[in-house]
Amino acid sequence: MVTTSSQDSLSQTFDLKTFDLKGYLSDRQQRVEAALDGALPVVYPETIYESMRYSLMAGGKRLRPILCLATCELMGGSEPMAMATACALEMIHTMSLIHDDLPAMDNDDYRRGQLTNHKVYGDDVAILAGDALLAYAFEYVARQTVGVSPERILRVVADLGRSVGAEGLVGGQVVDLASEGNPDITLETLTYIHTHKTGALLEVSVTAGAILAGADEAAIATLSDYAKCIGLAFQIVDDVLDITATSEELGKSAGKDLQAQKATYPSLWGIEESRRQAQQLVDQAKAAVACFGAGAQPLLALADYIVARTH
Ligand code: IPE
Ligand code: IPE
Ligand code: MG
Ligand code: MG
Ligand code: MG
Repeated sequence: MVTTSSQDSLSQTFDLKTFDLKGYLSDRQQRVEAALDGALPVVYPETIYESMRYSLMAGGKRLRPILCLATCELMGGSEPMAMATACALEMIHTMSLIHDDLPAMDNDDYRRGQLTNHKVYGDDVAILAGDALLAYAFEYVARQTVGVSPERILRVVADLGRSVGAEGLVGGQVVDLASEGNPDITLETLTYIHTHKTGALLEVSVTAGAILAGADEAAIATLSDYAKCIGLAFQIVDDVLDITATSEELGKSAGKDLQAQKATYPSLWGIEESRRQAQQLVDQAKAAVACFGAGAQPLLALADYIVARTH
């Protein structure tokens, strides 16, 4: 049992340095890829399915599904209980990327190492591919979840809906777009943008796994604290990487935020302070889940990965 929240003692107790994060990530990525592949066969009208698959199967870190599987396992659940929701999270996330890249939004040409969806299929089909992925995500959770009571599934469906709607991701995207070119953005507004456009979906990724496994409310609240911290840290790091990484590393156009005069943490604080704040949030996230003992090792490693990642 861990009694202190300092990073060094956590590392010692959980032997974090020997945790094989690379192997863990690649194993989970492969399972998620296989499940996603099976979830979306191409049928008539083929164009829309091909467009959906073009973005869904283009790689990506699969962080949201992996978090969902991790918390389900931590709370004593099995993979079949969480896999449908894990896939749904990736479908929703992919929808958000397709729409985020549209000319009417961030107007990006590259995503996940290839041309953006609208560059290949046109704006019309790209919009519809996002719509279809979003709708299918909810259908998929409702129909394909195995071994979980209807009450828990319903709660997950409701939480997913809130995380992606005007109270969550969409709300964040609206303020993100409205804040472009505004040099006087406040920290409060910026934090609203990040916690909503990115944090909300990451939070439900973490809590849904626990809900499906039948975790108690206290555990769900603790995991929610962890998720809020890594969610904000994740977008701060995304903003930093937009400046420090190359387009090749990112698989998407670097330097876009400055060009579009986006409200970002580096624009407010500079790169070093943004990195420091992200690290502080990750430390806070790790301290929150220390109470779960050795089983929390994947969550600790995933939190570290969020600041250490290069793309
Ligand atoms: C990119 O998300 C969009 C943000 C929310 C910052 P990811 O960095 O998780 O993108 P993929 O899924 O790995 O492509
Ligand atoms: C991503 O914010 C938020 C969503 C896609 C919901 P960004 O616009 O910073 O993401 P990237 O940098 O294009 O991946
Ligand atoms: Mg954007
Ligand atoms: Mg963007
Ligand atoms: Mg970005």
